[in-house]
Amino acid sequence: MTQLPRHVAIIMDGNGRWAQSQGVPRAAGHRAGLKPTRMSIQECARRGIEALTLFAFSSENWNRPADEVSSLMNLFVDSLDREIDELHASRVRVRFIGDRKQLAVRLQTRIAAAEQRTGDNDGLRLQIAMSYGGRWDIVQAAQELARQCSSGSIRPADIDEARFAAHMQLAGVPEVDLMIRTGGEQRISNFLLWHAAYAELYFSAMLWPQFDVAELEAALSFFAGRERRFGLTQAQLSDPAGRSDPAGQPGRAGQ
Ligand code: FPP
Repeated sequence: MTQLPRHVAIIMDGNGRWAQSQGVPRAAGHRAGLKPTRMSIQECARRGIEALTLFAFSSENWNRPADEVSSLMNLFVDSLDREIDELHASRVRVRFIGDRKQLAVRLQTRIAAAEQRTGDNDGLRLQIAMSYGGRWDIVQAAQELARQCSSGSIRPADIDEARFAAHMQLAGVPEVDLMIRTGGEQRISNFLLWHAAYAELYFSAMLWPQFDVAELEAALSFFAGRERRFGLTQAQLSDPAGRSDPAGQPGRAGQ
């Protein structure tokens, strides 16, 4: 059977360049990005992938021109209004990660309503990252743990990877197996720094509005062909009895 990722994360890059190539405003490029966004959600749900996390707006994107930020925020509000019924009907569980206090109140209201409405769904777990930065996520978890230490509810020695992860935005979601980035750049750009520690990285030259089922399939085939060692040797992988850690826990031992 083909190895399927449990958790796919996507950096949807290239809307602006696509718009430029078509001679239309950047905002039109972001609107064109809705089609591959919808396709990715539907395809991941249909294939039984457990979790999908989309990078919609980074902490750094606030520094873009004010009119672009405002058109993106309007697009998020409108698309949530338009798509939420279908997401719910498809049993998708929607959650938002990021510093939501920075978002406009009308967007915060939609976010809270979408999370509440779909919270009991048992289908695809969809995380939408807005005003999100991987470093911010780590820092806010560290602050919460520091508060618990100073109130005396835990000791510094009680902090291990599991406790740390439990205070991050993706608590309870499996680690990222496959991270896809479109738009030709080959970097993570402060996305899920903690959760992508062992992710396979797939870089697509396609601009996000061009991303289609065939390219998603290419990314999934790439993943299926990878050998994931989680710091173990090839020999240990073929003979699990040879492992010093019999549980074979990923993410503990190195490359
Ligand atoms: C990056 O392209 C894309 C964004 C900052 C916005 C992503 C938003 C969408 C795809 C809209 C739909 C999303 C949801 C969840 C409703 P860029 O502008 O950086 O492109 P460039 O690198 O070519 O300038």
